[in-house]
Amino acid sequence: MQSIQKNIKNSDLLLEVNNLNVFFDTADGKIQAVKDVNLFINKGECLGIVGESGSGKTQTFFSITGLLSSNGYCNGSAIFKDFDLISASEDKKREYLGKSIGFIFQDPMTSLTPHMKIGEQLSEIATFHDNLSKSEALKRALNVLDIVKLPKSRNLINSYPHELSGGMKQRIMIAISLMCSPELIIADEPTTALDVTTQSEILNIFNDLQKGMGISIVLISHNIGVIAETSDRVMVMKGGKVVEKGSTFDVLTSPKDEYTKHLLSCIPPWLEG
Ligand SMILES: Nc1ncnc2c1ncn2[C@@H]1O[C@H](COP(=O)(O)OP(=O)(O)OP(=O)(O)O)[C@@H](O)[C@H]1O
Ligand SMILES: [Mg+2]
Repeated sequence: MQSIQKNIKNSDLLLEVNNLNVFFDTADGKIQAVKDVNLFINKGECLGIVGESGSGKTQTFFSITGLLSSNGYCNGSAIFKDFDLISASEDKKREYLGKSIGFIFQDPMTSLTPHMKIGEQLSEIATFHDNLSKSEALKRALNVLDIVKLPKSRNLINSYPHELSGGMKQRIMIAISLMCSPELIIADEPTTALDVTTQSEILNIFNDLQKGMGISIVLISHNIGVIAETSDRVMVMKGGKVVEKGSTFDVLTSPKDEYTKHLLSCIPPWLEG
C-alpha cells in the first residue's frame, strides 16, 4: 500500500528536500549546522520557516541553491522539478538560481551592488539568463517595477542603491528575483530591517506574487507573526533541526513542541487574533 502511495506523483510538487545535512569545517573542527531536514513545497504555496538566530534557516536554503561558503558542504537531496540540486554541478545550479529560483538575501542594505545603477542591476540577470539585449532587459525591468509597486521612472532606473530608502531597496531585491519569471522565490528575512508599515506593504507584494502569479514562496523569518500572516504551512527550526511542521493554522493554534509554544508566547497580545 505504502509503495503504491509513493508511486502516485504529486503534480503540484515543486521542491522536495530529503535528509539534508549541512556541515562546516572550522578552526574548532567540523560542525553540523543543519540536521536531517525534510521538507516540500507545492506549486503556488507559501512555506514559512521560523526559528531563532543560528537555527539553520539560511544555511538550509543556501545548501539547496549552491550558496554555501567555501568551508561548507552538504548531503541529502533537493529535487526541484525532477532535478537534484544537491548533486548538480555548480554550473547547472547557477542555471536554476536567478532564473527558476529567485533568492532574496537577508540584508537588502548590502545585497545590492553600491556602484551599479538600479536599472543595470535589474537588467543584468535577464541578459545573463535569458540572453536579452540591454534594451529588451530594461523594458522587462520597467514591467517588473510595476509588480513591486515602484514608479516606472527613468529617475529610479538611473539611481544608485544609496539613494533609495530601505523599503525601496527591498522592492528592488524582489524585482531582481522576478526578472526571469521564477517558479520559486526564497525570501530570507525580507522584512526584518523595515518599519511596520513598510513591512506590511512588502508582505502584501509576496501575497500578490503567490496568489496572483502562482509563484511558490519560502519565507524565512525569526518573527512568527510575519509567518502567521503569510504562510500556508510552517516549519519550525531549532539547533539545525526541524522541531515542528504542519499547516500554519494547526501549528499556531495547537503547537506540539515546547519551543514552538515559547515562540508563540513571544507574540504580543495586541498582534494576536
Ligand atoms: N561559514 C560558516 N562557517 C562556520 N559556521 C557557519 C558558517 N555559516 C554559518 N555557520 C553556522 O551555521 C549555523 C546556522 O546558521 P544560519 O545562517 O542558517 O542561521 P539562521 O537560522 O539563518 O540565523 P539568523 O536568524 O541569525 O539569520 C550557525 O550556528 C552559524 O554560525
Ligand atoms: Mg539567516
